[in-house]
Amino acid sequence: MAKFLVQKSDPLYGEVDISGAKNAVLPIMAAALLSSGSCEIMAVPTLRDVTVMCDLLRSIGATVHEDYENNKIIINTPKNVASEAPSELVSKMRASALVMGPLLAKTGMVRVPLPGGCAIGKRPIDLHLKGFQALGAEIIEGSDYVEAKADKLIGANIYLDFPSVGATENIITAAALAEGISVIENVAKEPEIVDLANFLNKMGAKIKGAGTDTIKIEGVSELSDCKHTVIPDRIETGTFMVAAAITKGNILIKNTLPNHLKPVIAKLRECGVTVEFDEENILVKGDMCKIQSTDIKTLPYPGFPTDMQPQFMALLTIANGTSIVKETVFENRFMHVAELIKMGADIKIDGNNSFIEGVSHLKGAKVKCTDLRAGAALVLAGLAAEGITEVSEIYHIERGYSDFVEKFRKLGADIRKIDD
Ligand code: EPU
Repeated sequence: MAKFLVQKSDPLYGEVDISGAKNAVLPIMAAALLSSGSCEIMAVPTLRDVTVMCDLLRSIGATVHEDYENNKIIINTPKNVASEAPSELVSKMRASALVMGPLLAKTGMVRVPLPGGCAIGKRPIDLHLKGFQALGAEIIEGSDYVEAKADKLIGANIYLDFPSVGATENIITAAALAEGISVIENVAKEPEIVDLANFLNKMGAKIKGAGTDTIKIEGVSELSDCKHTVIPDRIETGTFMVAAAITKGNILIKNTLPNHLKPVIAKLRECGVTVEFDEENILVKGDMCKIQSTDIKTLPYPGFPTDMQPQFMALLTIANGTSIVKETVFENRFMHVAELIKMGADIKIDGNNSFIEGVSHLKGAKVKCTDLRAGAALVLAGLAAEGITEVSEIYHIERGYSDFVEKFRKLGADIRKIDD
């Protein structure tokens, strides 16, 4: 199993280009199944999750051309595709459940192995299924699979009990080809939802209101060719913003959308870090500051992103004072805490609150990634820790960060990948 060796870093300096967003490209690739033409997707990040999604689409019957040199994927979906997603691929990636809406709409039936829980929580798909049911689908839940089928999907009014990102995406894609009008309320407002709606509209869908609480979809009978460029990854951006702060460096983050990062910018400024930005670039100056403590509560967009909580916690471990971090989106997203404690952090957990007493320094240790963002947090902590931090189970990081080591090394970090 490969590992990262992370050496305490001098301040990181330079520029980094942000890749396309993982959490935008995955639902967009799944939605390409709805097209009866060719979908050319640009600014595709090079990630393990993307290659798993390519394999999944192929297993269903699509032709996928991967051109990572040009950050491009072309997906062609024939009229007849399979209705079933193979368990070995679904078990590799939770986002596989995103093929449910498109397959139900396209073939009138979908069957997938039940996506189990993961390190950050149980992660049920009840809201996805409720949405399909409202559109007229019958839901059959077996012991290890779930099936949805409908002769015809009919537009409906749907209220989501929680603004789930995945449920919003699955219901939008199912409703795009339903007969009549669907109105979905209390939907997720993440930028990735807006990107999906823009992609579908380019194929001929009629979706309005993405980015607000209510989305209205007028079903169409067919979706066709399109070309689409994926939005920049706001979580990759946020990770490099914290990297500048934690190493007291100066990083210019290019090809990003600062508008998507308002809570991250606000919290870094509360920590005493200077952040400047224009429409597409963010400059983070951590060189002159002493990190101050702050409190964070994760929330659905536009609140503070749960996907930035572990990285911020790494920063707060060396802040001046006590910080409270409250996780409200996932039930179990504090797995990195035990690892940070191994590095000398002073953190106590009480339910979904964690109390972080800033320490003067961290020390290198052997730590383990428990999920993608936890892994990123440990590398960030390693850059600030005395000595060497050995980070194992790095496949989690490779699932979701494009050219992770190369981008950090270009900024001056000493991170080496070794095979055990
Ligand atoms: N939930 C339910 N029932 C449902 C759906 C969700 O109870 O039917 C609960 C979940 O258990 C969780 C909460 O609602 O506690 C939020 O889940 P949501 O559906 O919003 O998240 P997701 O679609 O499973 C996406 C991202 C995650 C990101 C979350 C929240 C993708 C592929 N994944 O997951 O990304 O944390 O939204 O913003 O888009 C990551 O990139 O590291 C990552 C975990």
